[in-house]
Amino acid sequence: MNVAIITGASSGIGMEFALQMDNYFVTIDEFWLIARSREHLEEVAKVLDHKTRVIAMDITDEKKQDVLEDLLIEKNATVRVLVNAAGFGVMGPFSEQERMTAQEMVRLNCEALTALTHRMLPYMRRNSRIIQLASSAAFLPQPDFAVYAATKAYVLSFSRALGEELKEAGIYVTSVCPGPVDTPFFDIAEKTGTTLSIKKYTMVNPDKVVALALKDSYYKRSMSVCSLPIKYFQYLTKAVPHGLLLKAMGLLKKKGF
Ligand SMILES: NC(=O)c1ccc[n+]([C@@H]2O[C@H](COP(=O)([O-])OP(=O)(O)OC[C@H]3O[C@@H](n4cnc5c(N)ncnc54)[C@H](OP(=O)(O)O)[C@@H]3O)[C@@H](O)[C@H]2O)c1
Repeated sequence: MNVAIITGASSGIGMEFALQMDNYFVTIDEFWLIARSREHLEEVAKVLDHKTRVIAMDITDEKKQDVLEDLLIEKNATVRVLVNAAGFGVMGPFSEQERMTAQEMVRLNCEALTALTHRMLPYMRRNSRIIQLASSAAFLPQPDFAVYAATKAYVLSFSRALGEELKEAGIYVTSVCPGPVDTPFFDIAEKTGTTLSIKKYTMVNPDKVVALALKDSYYKRSMSVCSLPIKYFQYLTKAVPHGLLLKAMGLLKKKGF
C-alpha cells in the first residue's frame, strides 16, 4: 500500500499539502494525516477524496512514534511522500522566554522531524519524496526569534545533506523555505513578540507556498523558495556578511519597521 504521510496536517501549510496532494497524487492509496488535534484532522479528512487515516498524536512522543512505525509494518506500507510540516515558533528575547517553550521548539522542529525522517526511511522506495518545512529564517540568525531560526537552520542543513546522501537511492528531499505565510502560526508566535512590519509585507498565502513546493519536489529540487522578496533575501544572506545584516535588522527594528 502506498501512503503519503503529512505531519501538521490539521492547520496551515500541512493542511494545504493534504488538500493539494489530494488532487494530484493518484497513485497514493492512503493519506495519513498527523497532528495532535483529532477534531481538526477529521475535518480535513472529510474533504479529501483519497482514503485517509487520521493519526492524532504528539510527534515528540517516542512511544507514539513507535506506534506509527508499527502501523507501517502492519499495513505493509510504502511511504511515497513524507511531509514534515508540524512545527512552531515563539518570538521575543531569549532571556524572557520560558525555558520549556524554547526546549519544545527544538524537540518538535528538530528532534521529532529527525526521528520521523529516520523512522520512515526504511519504508521508502525509489522515487519517494521527503518534503521538510524549513523557513527563510534558516538563512540568517534572527534576534528575538533566535531559537526558532536556529531550529530551521538545522532543518535546512540536515535536509540538504540528507538529500545528497539519498540521491543514489532515488529518494529526493526538498527543503521548503518560505518567508511569512498567512496561517495560525502567528497566533502562537506573536504571543510574546511582534514580527518586523517589513516582513509582513512579504506575507503569502499557503496555497502558493505548497504549489511551488510540490512542483520543486516533483522536479527533485533540493530547495523551494517562494516569492521574489524571499529569493532576494536569500541572495542577500549569501552576498553580505551576516554581521552587517544583523546590524541592519537591529536598525530597522529601532526605526519601527
Ligand atoms: N506560517 C509561517 O509564516 C511559516 C513560515 C516558514 C515556515 N513555517 C513552518 O511551516 C510549518 C507549518 O506551519 P504553519 O504556518 O502551517 O503553522 P500552523 O498553522 O500553526 O500549523 C502547525 C501544525 O503543527 C501541528 N503541531 C504542533 N505541535 C505538534 C506536535 N507536538 N505534534 C504533532 N503536531 C503538532 C499543529 O497541529 P496541532 O496543534 O493539532 O498538533 C498544526 O497542524 C512549521 O514547521 C513552521 O515552522 C511557517
